[in-house]
Amino acid sequence: MSDQSRQISPAVQLEARLSARPETRYPVVIGAGVLTRLPDLLPADRYGVVVISEQRVWPLWGEAVMEILRQGERRVDHYLFAPGEIHKTRETKATLEDRLVADAWGRDVVLVALGGGVVTDLVGYLAATYLRGVRYLSVPTTLLAMVDAALGGKTGVNTAAGKNLVGAFHQPEAVLADLDTLSTLPDVELDHGLAETVKHAALSDEALLDRLVTDATALRARDAEALSDTVARSMAVKLQLVAADEQDHGLRQALNFGHTVGHALERASEYRVGHGHAVAVGMCVESDAAVRAGLMAPTVRDRIVGVIEALGLPARLPADISHAALTAALVLDKKNRGGEVRYAFPGALGQVATFGGQYTTALPDDAVGAALLAHAAEGHAPEGHT
Ligand SMILES: NC(=O)c1ccc[n+]([C@@H]2O[C@H](COP(=O)([O-])OP(=O)(O)OC[C@H]3O[C@@H](n4cnc5c(N)ncnc54)[C@H](O)[C@@H]3O)[C@@H](O)[C@H]2O)c1
Repeated sequence: MSDQSRQISPAVQLEARLSARPETRYPVVIGAGVLTRLPDLLPADRYGVVVISEQRVWPLWGEAVMEILRQGERRVDHYLFAPGEIHKTRETKATLEDRLVADAWGRDVVLVALGGGVVTDLVGYLAATYLRGVRYLSVPTTLLAMVDAALGGKTGVNTAAGKNLVGAFHQPEAVLADLDTLSTLPDVELDHGLAETVKHAALSDEALLDRLVTDATALRARDAEALSDTVARSMAVKLQLVAADEQDHGLRQALNFGHTVGHALERASEYRVGHGHAVAVGMCVESDAAVRAGLMAPTVRDRIVGVIEALGLPARLPADISHAALTAALVLDKKNRGGEVRYAFPGALGQVATFGGQYTTALPDDAVGAALLAHAAEGHAPEGHT
């Protein structure tokens, strides 16, 4: 966290609101070096703080957080768990709960989630249920967690049967996105966040699509100014969709753009294809299918694909994933969802498509099939097709 980077990128502050519950609002602070603002965002001094993180993030950013917190009079502690999606479980949550109880933390505790989406999801859920609900604050350290997971109050854990099957809606006290933390993030993790940013731009901020192309190199280089603008604008889109639909009954479903095919690709590749790459390809395939179904102008699809390529994200399916495996994954999805797979996508650039008051629609199987074939790996003829 250098003073210089702080000067380059002044902090931006947004406000998260929920239209159905106007009394619930919280600050979202974005900038290089904003970790130092943590004490200002905490509730009164009588609240003790337990920072909860995972073992990969802690050696990188834990001490910086603790140093800032130790400057006050508060009781401060930290708990760690093992990193990775496989540890976003009820068992990890139970271990942390037992420790909070053993250490006699009462309702005047505030939990600070320091890490990627695994940490913000798990700690948010822990906060939702510990002593029937305590306060928490999110300090996301991945681009994906900044622009997506840490916003909106969806918290939860995975079970053996699937991802995010158990959880709660519980809004944080504040979200503090220190862009300096992205300096240690591996490139592939940056990609996951960039894919969600393209999604937000395509759905609700056409000008951000232009910025993503202009700033592609600067973003990859973790330039604070480029990141600040992109992160803030991308967050603003997510906050706007969440504000209108906290509990995911309507507009928030638009955020599934790219995710239906993306999830099928993740499953068909046995999770070798990461989430961001799968969503990037998913947005290209789903846009193409929407064009084939007459629900999207080809220029919209081409622009989305162009931005994805400019950012160096994949626009085509990997060569080693067969058309049959992907179709099977989509068919399974169809069965699981009562016989209908629904898709969300932009109707025009920067505008969520609506279908008779709904934000998702089914697409004809042949349109999806043809779009999958059209996005096969370059020079790769999927089986049964020449
Ligand atoms: N609640 C929501 O609305 C929502 C939305 C999207 C995703 N999610 C959830 O978010 C999770 C994915 O989030 P994620 O991609 O951040 O995963 P993650 O938390 O596993 O982080 C990804 C990787 O980056 C590492 N890491 C984190 N910060 C780092 C840093 N600053 N420097 C170096 N390495 C760092 C982690 O150790 C991990 O290996 C999933 O569990 C998903 O379900 C939730």
